[in-house]
Amino acid sequence: MAEHGVCPWWVGYLLASPIRKFWQDPVRVLEPYIRPGMTVLEPGPGMGFFTLEIARLVGPSGRAVAVDVQPRMIEALKRRARKAGLSDRIDARVCGPESMGLAGLDRSVDFVFACAMVHELPSAATFFAEAAQAMKSGAALLLAEPAGHVGETEFAEEIKAAAGAGLSLAERPVIKRCTAALLRKS
Ligand SMILES: C[S@@+](CC[C@H](N)C(=O)[O-])C[C@H]1O[C@@H](n2cnc3c(N)ncnc32)[C@H](O)[C@@H]1O
Repeated sequence: MAEHGVCPWWVGYLLASPIRKFWQDPVRVLEPYIRPGMTVLEPGPGMGFFTLEIARLVGPSGRAVAVDVQPRMIEALKRRARKAGLSDRIDARVCGPESMGLAGLDRSVDFVFACAMVHELPSAATFFAEAAQAMKSGAALLLAEPAGHVGETEFAEEIKAAAGAGLSLAERPVIKRCTAALLRKS
């Protein structure tokens, strides 16, 4: 797989800009998959461009678990969650580079949204294994990678790594400026 570094923390501000809604509206991207009461895992949330919408969609009885390797991303995400009055349903955590540290979440997650982050990881295989372990059977993982950074060959390798963890390709949704796949745990 190609080598990509972790995106600098200050890019988090650009990614969380409201202007991004013009090409990636979080409601349009996520509404088809998230229902009230769900537990949603968002690995690599950055400063929470999608997390706040996930929290709105799961409602007061649901939970968004956001796990990022950069403390500055998580600090900013928490600030934005507080401002939006959504902190009570967002569990934002800092993890290490090799593992998301999801102990306690086994088979409890209804939906995973991994946007523009798998290509930054040291091992896609480890990531998908951890995600699959946390997912309920039948749960879906929406994988989206920036088309400008991740080519079709690299994306196909990611899908192969996911298949190795028991996540099979269900759909190829269209998300502007991204290459995307909906993967399902059997
Ligand atoms: C390009 S940003 C995308 C942020 C967000 N998903 C979005 O689309 O706006 C990639 C994010 O993945 C995080 N990341 C990189 N390596 C990670 C790892 N090993 N575990 C968790 N998060 C990681 C980065 O810190 C960064 O916040």
